[in-house]
Amino acid sequence: MQIIRTVSDLEAFVGKTLDNGKTIGLVPTMGALHDGHLSLVKRAVEDNDVSLVSVFVNPTQFNNPTDLATYPRDEENDFRLLAQAGATAVFAPSVDEMYPDGTQADHVYDLGTAAEVMEGKFRPGHFQGVAQVVSRLFLLCRPTRAYFGEKDFQQIAVIRNMVESEHINVDIVPVPIKRADDGLALSSRNALLTEEQRNVAPEIHVALAYSVEYSKDHSVSATHDTVVERINAVPYMNVEYFEIVDGRTLLPVEEWTESPDIVGCITVYCGKVRLIDNIRYK
Ligand code: PAJ
Repeated sequence: MQIIRTVSDLEAFVGKTLDNGKTIGLVPTMGALHDGHLSLVKRAVEDNDVSLVSVFVNPTQFNNPTDLATYPRDEENDFRLLAQAGATAVFAPSVDEMYPDGTQADHVYDLGTAAEVMEGKFRPGHFQGVAQVVSRLFLLCRPTRAYFGEKDFQQIAVIRNMVESEHINVDIVPVPIKRADDGLALSSRNALLTEEQRNVAPEIHVALAYSVEYSKDHSVSATHDTVVERINAVPYMNVEYFEIVDGRTLLPVEEWTESPDIVGCITVYCGKVRLIDNIRYK
């Protein structure tokens, strides 16, 4: 596996690949890799001639400096896992290499209303930072396909809007959520949980999965409330938001009949660790 640190080396790698008529599958990550990330890499390896994984903790998408400072990093282990997974190359630039003119964005991205709700409301500026780094990665890596996990359900919708408004030609491929055996969605942030917190964290998925059954004979608002009450009753847990939304627009629904595509998106503080998850109702 080739380790690429600079934009000029990346451009040479991408240029050569495309000149040879090969397809590029890109997996953008912030490292601290786990099996969730690796399921994206596996898809990229299967679908493309060349698979390229970026490992870059993007400072512009963190609205909380402590979150950025405590974000887990383990580059050596990441590279080992990527080589094992069969990735062709990893792009792991420094902040200066990624943002040679500084981290200030040169324009505001049009990300649609999908970027204004949920994560957009609770993490102001977050999606502008995601759009800034992902659009730069798309520009540099020129991928045929790019892979994103459904754990960050809203992020996929926002990136689709960004690709459309920026006229970028790439196929966005969503990949299902990978969970631990006890149901907890895999996340780099899980490493920050204490043992007691890790033991109760699966309750997020348990409550969401139960609510799918419950929703069959209860209203949207009753289903919403049962999830929030159940999770808030667990030690260390505090629901930041739980919204039951149209999976296409990400706007809240009031009736199950309102859309053929309905998803519940949740963010829970488990102690100081912010965990996100979602479940499909329809
Ligand atoms: P990061 O949190 O490192 O996640 C990288 C990719 O892995 C995202 O597409 C995310 O949805 C996916 N992923 C994480 N956990 C997953 C799981 N349990 N199952 C399936 N996929 C999972 O998301 C980001 O980084 C950043 O915002 C990024 C897109 C790289 C831009 O900086």
